[in-house]
Amino acid sequence: MKRAIYPGSFDPMTYGHLDIIKRAARNFDEVIVSVLDNKAKNPLFSVEERVKILEEATKDIPNVKIDSFSGLLIDYAKRIDVPVSVRGLRAITDFEYELQIAQTNSKLSHGKLDTVFFTASLEYSYLSSSGVKEIACFGGDLSECVPEFVAELLYAKYNQKR
Ligand code: PNS
Repeated sequence: MKRAIYPGSFDPMTYGHLDIIKRAARNFDEVIVSVLDNKAKNPLFSVEERVKILEEATKDIPNVKIDSFSGLLIDYAKRIDVPVSVRGLRAITDFEYELQIAQTNSKLSHGKLDTVFFTASLEYSYLSSSGVKEIACFGGDLSECVPEFVAELLYAKYNQKR
């Protein structure tokens, strides 16, 4: 069985992430989308909230599972016995960062964790979670960025902060 992890912060999941999840799910038997629990990043949504968003958005894709992890990706991958990490590449600006992570993971895992890149679909290549948060913060239109229920959660977060 071909299994892959799609790790990330997903703070919050965008249509860009969802596009990568769907395409990974067509290419692997099982895709485990895993939210990094990293308090140092000071996320807007808790790990539990981010997991719930991903669960709701992927509920109709049977071979996608949602999980969370902390610590090193290679340790998590070893623990759940998955040899491939999936990442999305938007523009050349992503490339250096992603190459470094992929090579670090390959080195640290002694070649046991490979990285497979999916290039972002054109309509989503401008999208980022930080951009989405900025739009939400000023009450802008998120209809092309995230599912409606995620937009509601974002607006609610920023209303709470006011
Ligand atoms: O969505 P993001 O924030 O770009 O995802 C980054 C992520 C989660 C893939 C990366 O930070 C990660 O795997 N962190 C876990 C710690 C780790 O394994 N670091 C070593 C590779 S640099």
